[in-house]
Amino acid sequence: MRTHYCAALRATDIEQTVTLCGWVDRRRDHGGVIFIDLRDRSGVVQIVSDPERTPASYSDAEKLRNEYVVRITGRVSGRPADSLNPKLPTGEIEIYADHIELLNAVHQQLPFQVASSDHETVREDLRLKYRYLDLRRDRMTQNLQLRHAVVKAMRRFLEDQEHFIEVETPILTRSTPEGARDYLVPSRVNPGEWYALPQSPQLFKQLLMVAGCDRYYQIARCFRDEDLRADRQPEFTQLDMEMSFMGQEEILALNEALLCHIFKTVKGVDLPRPFPRLTYAEAMDRYGCDRPDTRFGLELVDVSDTLKDCGFKVFSGAVKSGGMIKVLPIPGGDHISNMRIKPGGDLFTEATIAGAKGIAYIRVREGGEIDTIGAIKDNLTPEQKAALLTKTGAEPGTLLLFGAGDTATVNKSLDRLRQVVGAQLGMIDPDQVNLLWVTDFPMFEYNADEKRLEALHHPFTAPHPEDLADLATARAQAYDVIFNGIEIGGGSLRIYQRDVQEKVFATIGLSDEEAREKFGFLLDAFDYGTPPHGGIAYGLDRLVMLLAGEDSIRDVIAFPKTQQARSLLTDAPAGVADSQLKELYIASTYDPE
Ligand code: AMO
Repeated sequence: MRTHYCAALRATDIEQTVTLCGWVDRRRDHGGVIFIDLRDRSGVVQIVSDPERTPASYSDAEKLRNEYVVRITGRVSGRPADSLNPKLPTGEIEIYADHIELLNAVHQQLPFQVASSDHETVREDLRLKYRYLDLRRDRMTQNLQLRHAVVKAMRRFLEDQEHFIEVETPILTRSTPEGARDYLVPSRVNPGEWYALPQSPQLFKQLLMVAGCDRYYQIARCFRDEDLRADRQPEFTQLDMEMSFMGQEEILALNEALLCHIFKTVKGVDLPRPFPRLTYAEAMDRYGCDRPDTRFGLELVDVSDTLKDCGFKVFSGAVKSGGMIKVLPIPGGDHISNMRIKPGGDLFTEATIAGAKGIAYIRVREGGEIDTIGAIKDNLTPEQKAALLTKTGAEPGTLLLFGAGDTATVNKSLDRLRQVVGAQLGMIDPDQVNLLWVTDFPMFEYNADEKRLEALHHPFTAPHPEDLADLATARAQAYDVIFNGIEIGGGSLRIYQRDVQEKVFATIGLSDEEAREKFGFLLDAFDYGTPPHGGIAYGLDRLVMLLAGEDSIRDVIAFPKTQQARSLLTDAPAGVADSQLKELYIASTYDPE
């Protein structure tokens, strides 16, 4: 059918006769001479049809329209000096078409122009509905190819250098507790019983370690029925890994080498090693969140000790009731107006979305004078003022934004403000790559709705050996990888002893019967010679999104779902025939009224 890909041709091919296949990206008629940008997966090349030089193809060229599929044979020529296009890899040449064969036309009006430059203006719902057209665009073609390159680099590193083997694990399985709702599949042959789609291959990869597999990986599809965001899809892909006989340091070092290999292969970038590390406690203290974006400063300062006895009740009361007072110091924050901090302002709104009731603030003036509302100014002693300025490093022109209340809300609201202000002040370099580990997560967090502890990572994570005496407050041997403020991966050392696993199940409120009913197969496996093991899983979509410079994982997934978990292309999910439901012993209770 063809001799070359479109974008493969260069000046060294001049005088060759070539045959190319592809789509008409654009057709321009320049007073008798027709120019066609012919596009395939590799890119575009310019085709010329001219009534004098290529009379045989001219009438066919005239009939072409955008997105027609054609096969073109012609001779590669150097472009005249005044029409060189340095932006295109093929910009030094063009092809005089001797023969144009129309392979297929477009029979309906195109819902949008496919040519690359129009990308930004097309509504996402149209792009998703006609995804096969959207994927023809340069940006999306590049994203799919980048995704492929990332997976290829992962496989090469893990298989060829580190002796991992890929093993597939079941999709029809039992529920795995990763914290989201399950997608359920009814069983026809086992009436009234259900499979769950895996939220991750967690339990199977641990069983593979029991099986002696030693080093496992999988490009694994995972399913989670949870609220969707730009970096969350109901089905997404993990690079999932598990290894035996390795401690945390060895696992982190291997993963740093993996990430460096990926960056070097697909971006040509050498990442500095070792990656910085923060403990969970440090991350919460300095940034108010466990996945900080460290491309910019604006670190938070805990001033609970300094202000716990001050006369301003909002501050002192917060500490008395077990909470805290924290400051986000913004150097040069002078031009952030009071309007923005007070009710109705954008920063106020950000803080309240995070649960804060409002934002107290202090402006630092020349000579260390402070400017704020009377209730604060009149209730701080000179010593408290001085200590506050020293602790926060405030200079004249610094704006101090306060969070006071329960610890979680203070951290959440100041984290949000920090990110908004950092972005608005242009403090974030979009080209910078900050990868870091966050380690030593707590084993459990309190679920106020269910009034019980739940595993922060998952209940198979091993507690820190020093903290075994009180599991409820123990640190976990768990680690997350953060890339510019986004969690791209997380893992842990696992429990591999039955008694420890039973204690953890008991701590999260699982009775012995429930534990045996749900995870008996795992507990039994622990009795048959389980090696120490640990692992990690990366969100492949998130990693590729960040490498591609995209804001949404939808742009690096060929056929993603909307925020409502729908496919606009196939219109899934959809109703099914009553006969199908009957076979499955299912009746819907849904009432549209
Ligand atoms: P975790 O639940 O942290 O760990 O998931 C690992 C990584 O998967 C990505 N991720 C998602 N990406 C897109 N859409 C989603 N809905 C979504 N949910 C998670 C994130 C996350 O860091 N079994 C453990 C791993 C282990 O312990 O080895 C697990 O699944 O980037």
